[in-house]
Amino acid sequence: MDLHVSLVGRKDLSGEIYRQLRRAILEDRLRPGDALPPTRVLARGLGVSRTTATLAYERLAGEGFVTSRVGAGTFVSERVARVPKDAATRRARPVDKEALRPRRIWDSIPIPTAFDRPAAFDFRSGLPDASLFPHRAWRRVMARALREDSAVSGGVYGHPAGHRGLREAIARHIGIARGVTASPDDVVVTSGTQQALDLIARVLLSPGDTVAVEDPGYPPPRRLFTSLGARVHHVPVDADGLMVDALPRHTRLVYVTPSHQYPLGMSMTLSRRVALLAWAERHHAAIIEDDYDSEFRFGGRPIEPLQTLDSAGRVVYVGSFSKTLLPTLRLGFVVTPPSLSKAVYKAKHVTDWHTSMLAQAALARFIDEGGFARHIRRVGAVYRMRHAMITATLMREFAGRLDVIPSAAGLHVAATARASADQVAAIASRAADAGVAVQELSKFAAGAAWRSGLLLGFGAIATGHIEEGLRRLRACFR
Ligand SMILES: Cc1ncc(COP(=O)(O)O)c(C=O)c1O
Repeated sequence: MDLHVSLVGRKDLSGEIYRQLRRAILEDRLRPGDALPPTRVLARGLGVSRTTATLAYERLAGEGFVTSRVGAGTFVSERVARVPKDAATRRARPVDKEALRPRRIWDSIPIPTAFDRPAAFDFRSGLPDASLFPHRAWRRVMARALREDSAVSGGVYGHPAGHRGLREAIARHIGIARGVTASPDDVVVTSGTQQALDLIARVLLSPGDTVAVEDPGYPPPRRLFTSLGARVHHVPVDADGLMVDALPRHTRLVYVTPSHQYPLGMSMTLSRRVALLAWAERHHAAIIEDDYDSEFRFGGRPIEPLQTLDSAGRVVYVGSFSKTLLPTLRLGFVVTPPSLSKAVYKAKHVTDWHTSMLAQAALARFIDEGGFARHIRRVGAVYRMRHAMITATLMREFAGRLDVIPSAAGLHVAATARASADQVAAIASRAADAGVAVQELSKFAAGAAWRSGLLLGFGAIATGHIEEGLRRLRACFR
């Protein structure tokens, strides 16, 4: 890589080169053993005489920053004391009144923490089992996609709505698996659910519009809507789902998780779905149906998605491959009512043009060849077993302490606690000390009055670790 030295003016050029190289070494941008460019090359690049560059190198060598080896070149010395990294960054970015500041809204949005090292017994929700990812099959479809012109398309950008074959495959898949009727023309491939929500919000919301979200609920959409200048209203959830009667009249957009309420886990009853649709029609509001993990069902008959029940074109359906494949793939999709399709893919275009065509082409083939359906059947059987194990153990070993909320889908189980939210926080903290990661339900609630409890994901924990993880958790209830 070229070494960047900038010379302004014509005074003390050798001194300036020396100072900039010295700083680069002290701040670890140049590391022990790194080669400096030959003086001839540096001098030519900077438009200075070779003597000027040589003088700078000699000064650095004299102070022990670099060593020269005849015939080999000049290298950063192995034993230079470095400025600690954060001190270097602080100096580079002075904090003063003149510094650039983000809009105030960003003060209320927390720094993401999901990158923590996994616990030995990881019951965090929202994560699939990465060890079950079909690596071999995926390598094959990726290699095929790389060979095919249509995926790489000679370096030309693709259609913002996504790879045609994938949009057709998604329309077929959700038609079969979820009974959702969609034309490929109404499918837009996105970088996960989160981007789908961003596109919908850009298309439908003006600053100051009200968006209703579930309470307790999934935090990322709330933060997204807030960051876009919407007023976020938290609407309580009961055993039937979002309480439609509590929706503010002027709501423009309602975000719900009807198949598997996040985080509580129950599904929205049919009568509540019908009431929500009628409400949206009466109030000219839109509904986002986030169907993030319903591919994994463990019993009961699935209730019709809102999208299927909707006859007035008010529902935008969102799906994700984060649970069925991997969250790091960043692949999801949105099915819009025809009235919104063009605007949503225009929004996709202005946001990031399109999602990786290579990954889309690979996924299209994976679905078309039946690999995706086979994968879901295979991992679904594993998750079904974990779901049953956790539910049974909670009911047996935690009776009187936790009450399991019945759920028949997804990758997590929630249980309300008899203890207070503070006591549950202490239990979760003791569990963390014992190597067990669990989430507190109260962390997902906006209303302080919400009951306490725990959320136990079973995507990230190996089946063989569940029993010991729950045994350790049980010991933390004292
Ligand atoms: C309610 C809900 N929706 C969607 C997702 C997936 O989001 P994405 O597709 O952006 O990875 C999750 C993941 O945990 C979730 O809990």
